[in-house]
Amino acid sequence: MKIIFATGNPGKMKEVRQILADLDAEILSMKEAGIDIPIEEDGLTFEENAVIKAKAIHACAPDAVVLADDSGLEVDYLDKQPGVYSSRYMGEDTPYEIKNAAIIRKLAGAQESERTGRFISAIAAVLPDGTVLTTQGVIEGVIAHEPAGEGGFGYDPIFYVPEFHATTAELTPEQKNAVSHRGKALRAMKSKLKRYFEV
Ligand code: IMP
Repeated sequence: MKIIFATGNPGKMKEVRQILADLDAEILSMKEAGIDIPIEEDGLTFEENAVIKAKAIHACAPDAVVLADDSGLEVDYLDKQPGVYSSRYMGEDTPYEIKNAAIIRKLAGAQESERTGRFISAIAAVLPDGTVLTTQGVIEGVIAHEPAGEGGFGYDPIFYVPEFHATTAELTPEQKNAVSHRGKALRAMKSKLKRYFEV
């Protein structure tokens, strides 16, 4: 089975390869599959965007299993921003040091109990026969007062998980995969794919 994962983000690709390692499949990024098309993520939910991406790539590679995720950070105090705009928040090319510092500043007036948020990941699969499968995973946390940690990517340095006493940037990749939104959504998708292909 050939799986193409629709992302250009090397950080995500690394997580995906670790989680899907036990599937009997060749796992390719879009670049490795030679696909380079612009995709307009104009859905209003993570799931809609994941399906849009997976269908666009499926049109270029109809014989492969195409997986796509859409994910992001919801901050309750900011009315669930940046949400589906997580990568575009303050501009796609703005460094995360700046985005993370801005979010911390915006929470300056928040009570501790108001600093809650979550990473959400929706995964969509389009199979060679056109079937669409979707899953979702969530990890709850709070926005840290200062960035911490060198691991992960994006908003990881400001996403503090109380049960680990650490931000997701301070976790090892294995620890993060075990609890992350994408880890949960991908493992759920792995089970669905196994069930689908066993039948
Ligand atoms: P996507 O690539 O369209 O799914 O956008 C995801 C964006 O959400 C990323 O560019 C990050 O800004 C943020 N994000 C999603 N997952 C994570 C994560 O695990 N850690 C940190 N930031 C994340």
